[in-house]
Amino acid sequence: TGLVTLDPGFMNTASTTSAITYIDGDAGILRYRGYPIDQLAEGSSFLEVAYLLIKGELPTADELEAFTSRVHKHRLLHEDFKAFFTAFPANGHPMAILQSGVSALATYYQHTLDPRDEEQVELATVLLMAKVPTMIAYIAKRALGLPLLYPDASKSYVEDFYRLTFHLPYQDHDVDPALTKALDMLLILHADHEQNCSTSTVRMVGSSNANIYSAVSAGVGALSGPLHGGANESVLEMLTAIQASGGDASEFMRKVKNKEDGVRLMGFGHRVYKNYDPRAAIVKDAAHEVLGKLGKSDELLDIAMGLEEIALNDDYFIERKLYPNVDFYTGLIYKAMGFPTQMFTPLFAMGRLPGWIAQYREMIADPTTKIGRPRQVYTGETERQYPAGR
Ligand code: CMC
Repeated sequence: TGLVTLDPGFMNTASTTSAITYIDGDAGILRYRGYPIDQLAEGSSFLEVAYLLIKGELPTADELEAFTSRVHKHRLLHEDFKAFFTAFPANGHPMAILQSGVSALATYYQHTLDPRDEEQVELATVLLMAKVPTMIAYIAKRALGLPLLYPDASKSYVEDFYRLTFHLPYQDHDVDPALTKALDMLLILHADHEQNCSTSTVRMVGSSNANIYSAVSAGVGALSGPLHGGANESVLEMLTAIQASGGDASEFMRKVKNKEDGVRLMGFGHRVYKNYDPRAAIVKDAAHEVLGKLGKSDELLDIAMGLEEIALNDDYFIERKLYPNVDFYTGLIYKAMGFPTQMFTPLFAMGRLPGWIAQYREMIADPTTKIGRPRQVYTGETERQYPAGR
C-alpha cells in the first residue's frame, strides 16, 4: 500500500515513458518521433506518418510501397460485416457505430488477437489502418441510405476514402486533388498527441493484455466526448447557434466568461498547450485555402475568426492561457468538403488511429509495463453495522 497521491485528471502524473510524440506546451511545439509537425504536414503523406509513428523511422520508398500495398490489399470489409451497419438506427451517432465496429473486428480476425505475438500485432495494425476508413465511409453512406462502393486499390488511401464516402455506383468521378491533399494533411495533424484521454484509454485497456481492437475501440469511445475529439462537432454547433442568433458573438462570450450554464468556448483551451496550438495555426491557414479553392465563403469562418480575435485580446482568456486548439477550425474545412457534422469526430478517429496503434505497440513491447490500476483516496463510511432484522 504505502503513500497514495491524489491527482485528479492526472494533472501532474506521468503514466508512462514514451518515445513517440514530443510536446512543449509552453512553446507550442509538437513533434512526431522528433520531426516538427509543420514539416511532416507539408512534406509527408498520412500513411508515411503512420509508418513513422508506428515503426519509429520514416520509411524508405520501398518500405512505404510495401506498407501501402499491404494496407490497400485489406481495405475490403467482410461481406457479412455490411449487415452490421444496418443493425443500428440510421440516425445513430457515427462514433457509437464506429466504436462497436472496431471492437467487432476481433470476431472476424481471431488470428490477430494475441498482443504477445509480433506477427499478429503487425497484421492487426494493417487491418485496422485498412478497414477503419472503409467502415467510416460506410457509416456515412448508411446514414443517408446510399449504396456502398467497394474500395479501389488503384487509388490513394485518402482519395479512396473520399470516393467511398461521397461517390455513387456508376457516378464515380475523379476527386479534386486539392481536397485529398487537405484531408491527408488534417489526418497527419491528428495522428498522435502523446497521452491524451483516448490514447491513455487505449493503453489502459491494452495493459490488461486485451486485444488491440478492444483497446482502440475504447479509444474511440473516449474520443467521442465533447471535451476531447467531440469538440470539433461542438464547435460547429456553437458557430451555427451564434449565426442563428444574429451573428453577435459578444452575448455568447459574456456567458462563457460568466461560466453561465457551464458554457465554454469550444475549440479553445488545452491541458498541455498554454500557447497557440501549432496544429490550429496550420488548420486555420488550410481553412482559408480550402474554402478559397472551393469558391465557398462561409459566414461561420468569419464568426470563428471574430471569436478568436475577441478571445486573444480578452483578460479571461489571456490569464488562463486559452488559445484555439486543433478542433477550432477543422469542422469548417470538413463542412466545406461536404461531410455532415456528425462525421467530424470519426475523421478525427481516422487520423488518430496510427497514434493509438503506435502507443499500444510501444506499451506491449515495454517490459516494464504493468496493468493500469490507479489507486483511490476513499472518502466513504469506514465501517457500519448491517441493520439487524433487515
Ligand atoms: N472556454 C472557457 N473557459 C475555459 C475553456 C474554454 N474552452 N477551457 C478552459 N477554461 C477555463 C476553465 O473554466 C478554468 O477556469 P478557472 O481557472 O476559472 O476555473 C480554466 O480555464 C482552466 O480550465 P480547466 O478545465 O481546468 O483545464 P483542463 O486542462 O482541465 O481542460 C480542456 C482542458 C481542453 C478540457 C478545456 O480547455 C476545455 O473544456 N476546452 C473546450 C473543449 C475543447 O475544445 N476540447 C478539445 C481539446 S484539444 C483536442 C482534443 O483533445 O480533442
